[in-house]
Amino acid sequence: MKKRIAVISGDGIGPDITFEAVKVLKRVAERFGHDFEIVEYLAGGAALDAYNTPLPDSTLKGCQDSDAVLLGSLGGPKWDTLPSHLRPEKGLLGLRGGLGLFCNLRPAIMYKQLSGACPLKAEVVGEQLDIMVVRELTGGIYFGARGSDEESAYDTMSYTRAEIERILRKGFEIAQKRSRRLCSVDKANILSSSQLWRAVANALCAEYPDVELTHLYVDNAAMQLVRNPRQFDVIVTENMFGDILSDEASQITGSIGMLPSASLREDSFGMYEPIHGSAPDIAGKDLANPIAMILSVAMMLRHSFGMEGEAQAVEAAIEAVLDQGYRTVDIYSESMIKVGTKEMGQRIAQAL
Ligand SMILES: NC(=O)c1ccc[n+]([C@@H]2O[C@H](COP(=O)([O-])OP(=O)(O)OC[C@H]3O[C@@H](n4cnc5c(N)ncnc54)[C@H](O)[C@@H]3O)[C@@H](O)[C@H]2O)c1
Repeated sequence: MKKRIAVISGDGIGPDITFEAVKVLKRVAERFGHDFEIVEYLAGGAALDAYNTPLPDSTLKGCQDSDAVLLGSLGGPKWDTLPSHLRPEKGLLGLRGGLGLFCNLRPAIMYKQLSGACPLKAEVVGEQLDIMVVRELTGGIYFGARGSDEESAYDTMSYTRAEIERILRKGFEIAQKRSRRLCSVDKANILSSSQLWRAVANALCAEYPDVELTHLYVDNAAMQLVRNPRQFDVIVTENMFGDILSDEASQITGSIGMLPSASLREDSFGMYEPIHGSAPDIAGKDLANPIAMILSVAMMLRHSFGMEGEAQAVEAAIEAVLDQGYRTVDIYSESMIKVGTKEMGQRIAQAL
């Protein structure tokens, strides 16, 4: 299969981990007989340095003309003092908006090899944890009307039926491919937008009879995530609730260097990136964990290219290398073998 992939390595550790992810991507192409055309673009601080804008038109156009985007991380102290319209983060928001990415998938997976890093008791979390948070990304309180004066301020959480329906459909479809359990999180006892959310979820349920739909209020969901995380498989929720719950879920797994994400639009197009930032403290030092970025490649193969077998092969290669005891500094524990970014990437590519 032929695919065009826009690659934005970005700032800080972005280039370190992207190099390893591309290495793995090339190995997938070789092993499975695909033709991946990899085209590099600038965004964030690197684009500010080169073009004085965090998102050059050529980058957005290049991404729009590709089948998927792979992004390292954007930002760093070098650009922190710039005015807000010139901050590297604007590049990220511009990409999400410009590419119409309304659906954010954040899997929180705790690998059995790393269970020692989980902050919850072993009997609570079990041997392995695998939760998928499906978060609405372009609506809700972050995008609603807002205003303030010296005495008051307001933000508005608003949703249309169409916005709710398209993200819930994603939730149902993902649940169909997993355990067929979908937990919809809202605050329908208080918020009108949540009441509409719940009504749409209940109405859609008839179209997905193979999926068991449950509802939780967001405060209860936050509590249940630490009380009994194993009850969850797929969680679908609106923008702000998803922002908070996905961070909570990710922390249960123990290490930020292990967690990928996908931002999708209605067709198969998506942008894939680790959830962590540019980690300027370890940039260029061969210390960054490339696994979140390589898992983002697996998500791209699965969600944008429909290459489930290839995605599983990448995930299995990561597990194999962890089984052999190789660890970057962030996930290192006694008696394991400490390796740098490059060796970890190389070993995963070899395991493929
Ligand atoms: N999507 C993005 O591009 C994105 C997301 C968050 C933050 N940022 C930007 O990144 C910069 C740094 O932000 P921050 O320090 O708050 O968060 P961060 O995620 O970059 O770093 C937090 C801590 O985690 C460590 N860390 C992060 N990723 C790691 C990895 N792969 N392997 C090993 N250790 C890792 C870092 O060394 C640091 O100690 C800021 O400029 C911020 O705006 C970008």
